Amino acid sequence: MTVNPINMSDETWRRLLAVREGSAPPPGPEGTLYGPIAAASGRFVLAQVGQSLDGRVATPSGDARDISGPEGLAHLHRCRALVDAVIVGENTVSCDDPRLSVRLVDGPDPARVVIDCHARLSGSEGLFHDGGARVIVFQSAEARRNDLRNAEIIPLRPEKNGLSPQEMLKALSGLGLHRVLVEGGARTIARFIEAGLVDRLHVAVSPLIIGSGPSGISLSPVERLSSALRPEAQIYSLGSDILFDCPLKPLVRPAGQ
Ligand SMILES: NC(=O)c1ccc[n+]([C@@H]2O[C@H](COP(=O)([O-])OP(=O)(O)OC[C@H]3O[C@@H](n4cnc5c(N)ncnc54)[C@H](OP(=O)(O)O)[C@@H]3O)[C@@H](O)[C@H]2O)c1
Repeated sequence: MTVNPINMSDETWRRLLAVREGSAPPPGPEGTLYGPIAAASGRFVLAQVGQSLDGRVATPSGDARDISGPEGLAHLHRCRALVDAVIVGENTVSCDDPRLSVRLVDGPDPARVVIDCHARLSGSEGLFHDGGARVIVFQSAEARRNDLRNAEIIPLRPEKNGLSPQEMLKALSGLGLHRVLVEGGARTIARFIEAGLVDRLHVAVSPLIIGSGPSGISLSPVERLSSALRPEAQIYSLGSDILFDCPLKPLVRPAGQ
């Protein structure tokens, strides 16, 4: 397998932002990694995980800072800048108190979307108070709580497995948010993959061994390796991290089809 360089110049990045705005045509081969995100018309779902060599995203006590190296973080911020919305589960908000903003590259901040089915967040978490991009919270219609300040609450009818990822994407599309980055954690990404909704999965591996702790994706178990997903990954060197860019759509059949 070839390890491709990123070659991200200021000019290439400005061009990708222009593609995102629809004011430039899709880029050439230098935009292979980011081009499909920037040029997506209509719904596009990217999931991204930053993990250690042994597949962990945090220590058992929940320390998740600095798993990715500096270029891995810059990559994550590029992905945020190219999408309309970034989605995380409530546990990621409780554990990491993330800002979910674009700080390491030029570009717009995405809307921040939190799945808080059972209304567990207290409202004291930073993203509700930092004056950043809009915050949207998906809750179960049965949670009956809407006292999160500075957030738009969207109640959804819960299904057997919680809130339907399809319904969430539909609601976001209705708000003009079509390109979406599902940033974690493991249970949130799994729901979108198992619903067959993830166009591309980015896994950035950093040369770090944590030894134990949660993994980045926790899908339902399979019995045989022949049932494992084997995407045709392209590999990129980010510098500090190695990135696997995996098209997932052809591999996962949405439930019921
Ligand atoms: N390195 C990285 O790339 C990265 C990125 C983000 C987070 N993280 C790490 O991941 C860990 C958190 O991951 P996590 O898997 O525990 O939590 P999570 O995915 O952030 O949040 C899980 C919570 O959201 C709920 N949820 C997610 N999707 C739902 C849906 N469709 N319907 C209803 N409820 C839904 C889950 O409900 P259920 O209980 O019903 O499943 C659970 O309550 C933290 O340690 C964080 O640091 C790492």
